[in-house]
Amino acid sequence: MTGEQASTQASPAEELHSILLAHYRFQSLSAGFESGLFEALAEKPGMTKAEIGQKLGLAEQPTRILMLCVTAFGLVRKDGDGYENTAVVEPLTGGKDPVAAALVPYHQHITYKTMGWFWESLKADTNVGLKKVFGEESTTLYERIAVDPVLESAFHNAMGAFSATSSTELVKTLDLSSYTHMLDIGGGRAINATNIARRWPHLQITIIDLPSVAKTANERLAAAGLDDRVRAVGLDAFSDEFPTGADCVLFSHFLEIWSAEGIRKLLQKASRAVGDGAGIFIVTPFQDDDETGPAHAAELSAYFHAVASGEGMVYTPREYEEWMSEAGFTPTGRTPVGELINHIAISGVKGGA
Ligand SMILES: C[S@@+](CC[C@H](N)C(=O)[O-])C[C@H]1O[C@@H](n2cnc3c(N)ncnc32)[C@H](O)[C@@H]1O
Repeated sequence: MTGEQASTQASPAEELHSILLAHYRFQSLSAGFESGLFEALAEKPGMTKAEIGQKLGLAEQPTRILMLCVTAFGLVRKDGDGYENTAVVEPLTGGKDPVAAALVPYHQHITYKTMGWFWESLKADTNVGLKKVFGEESTTLYERIAVDPVLESAFHNAMGAFSATSSTELVKTLDLSSYTHMLDIGGGRAINATNIARRWPHLQITIIDLPSVAKTANERLAAAGLDDRVRAVGLDAFSDEFPTGADCVLFSHFLEIWSAEGIRKLLQKASRAVGDGAGIFIVTPFQDDDETGPAHAAELSAYFHAVASGEGMVYTPREYEEWMSEAGFTPTGRTPVGELINHIAISGVKGGA
């Protein structure tokens, strides 16, 4: 270990302390973000506590507590009587990092309370977090948010911001030149489909998603002038068959939501919907074959189990290839999807390669 590493690396005691108190840090970040504090300081650095309290509509003591928290946690720095943002929160302001900015309300409204039920979810082998926070009748987050506009927009804003980044990388990764019609299963609000349709002007795309999402996707597609080639159909990927007539299928950030059994069913359904020679692309986060990480795979696995579906996790590429083979697709390769998101595209062909 170099001297520099030794001085910057947290000791085990510091690491434990930081984990124990992580919720205070996140809640200070969220309060600073949701109140508009960081945006206000980005626009006018050097505001005093009194000016901040007035701007945020807070009484004196709450202002003092908020400013103590954001300062102590390194989100804001104090210089004389004035405050300014640190580099930590600067990306959350002025649209600089839309993914990070969308993730703050997403974690605040969706994962924060629900992940408090992680251990109970593991013991019960279902998403207790979703049920405890959003109602016992909730089965998946996706169905639950469809009847709650605030949650739906917190989810889709975050997913959309992430998808905007990942789909830019995705269009560079996939070669769709030999296909004419793509099925995009769980295609969300058509962000991938829009980018793919623009990159491959000959391609038709049929998106399948839950009815409320498909409706929004169709509105966005009409606004983008792509509704002659791309349309969304409101279907349940589990209870309905996929439309036939396509010659390639995309599962982007969808299969990992489900159990191995569910994934097998979806891949077999895809196989029934297409003919020999059809392509398949599974775009997904992945965990290392030795099951030691990365951290991103761990976070998402915990989220799928305790919140989103109660059954999914981040699987290894090898598992996907086995399930593809069982469904009649020959795996043809793995391609990293950009550097920003650390996901993979696993491709295959129906029948022989
Ligand atoms: C994580 S998002 C992925 C969106 C998009 N494919 C992407 O890569 O950005 C998962 C999508 O699956 C949809 N979904 C969840 N359950 C579904 C079901 N049973 N049938 C169809 N779509 C479903 C959700 O509405 C959501 O749009």
